[in-house]
Amino acid sequence: MSGKRASETMTRMAQIMTPNDANVLGNVFGGSILAMVDLTASATAQKFAGRVCVTASFDRVDFHFPVDVGNFVEMEGVVTYVGTTSCEVTIDVYATNLTKGDRRHTNTARVTMVALDENGKPTPVPRLVCETREEKVRFLEGHARRNLRKEQLAHLAALQSRLSSASDAEIEAWFADPKSLSI
Ligand SMILES: CC(C)(COP(=O)(O)OP(=O)(O)OC[C@H]1O[C@@H](n2cnc3c(N)ncnc32)[C@H](O)[C@@H]1OP(=O)(O)O)[C@@H](O)C(=O)NCCC(=O)NCCS
Repeated sequence: MSGKRASETMTRMAQIMTPNDANVLGNVFGGSILAMVDLTASATAQKFAGRVCVTASFDRVDFHFPVDVGNFVEMEGVVTYVGTTSCEVTIDVYATNLTKGDRRHTNTARVTMVALDENGKPTPVPRLVCETREEKVRFLEGHARRNLRKEQLAHLAALQSRLSSASDAEIEAWFADPKSLSI
């Protein structure tokens, strides 16, 4: 599988947020932003892989600022790391009040997408050609995040298993003092 340059993976989407996206406070629902993030990740990954790609996982997403109805929301997606059949897409989200002109970076999301073949099975993605120091640093961070995701999942599975097999007395003791449950 030949390589594709990281610099050529940038994919942008934008829209004005409407009252359909509003929560009861009149701000935009986090879910509306996440839907746009998912679409951007999908477009970025498919352009990169030249294949249908599906969402395998979302990393934790923190919202640093509210987005208001009427804001112009822009998504910028880039492929930051690739495995064999998966790639990590990093999406930066910006919201602009068009009448005031202030553009704020509201959050960064990371989505793992998997390329599928004609039979719906995972299939290799191109190699990611990282030319600049920044691209190489992003790739190394992506590699570390991939390992951390795996470790965290294994850790949580072990914890779940420990809790489900614990005695009532152990559960009561940990419930009374959650810090005593080493995780
Ligand atoms: C994602 C999916 C294709 C993985 O299929 P699978 O049979 O588990 O595939 P594999 O175990 O061979 O893993 C394939 C790749 O996906 C990655 N992967 C699988 N599950 C993952 C997860 N939960 N998070 C991150 N990466 C994951 C693997 O690390 C592997 O990457 P690599 O090839 O780069 O090493 C499958 O679980 C699926 O179809 N999920 C539903 C996807 C979907 O419908 N999304 C939209 C939800 S509405």
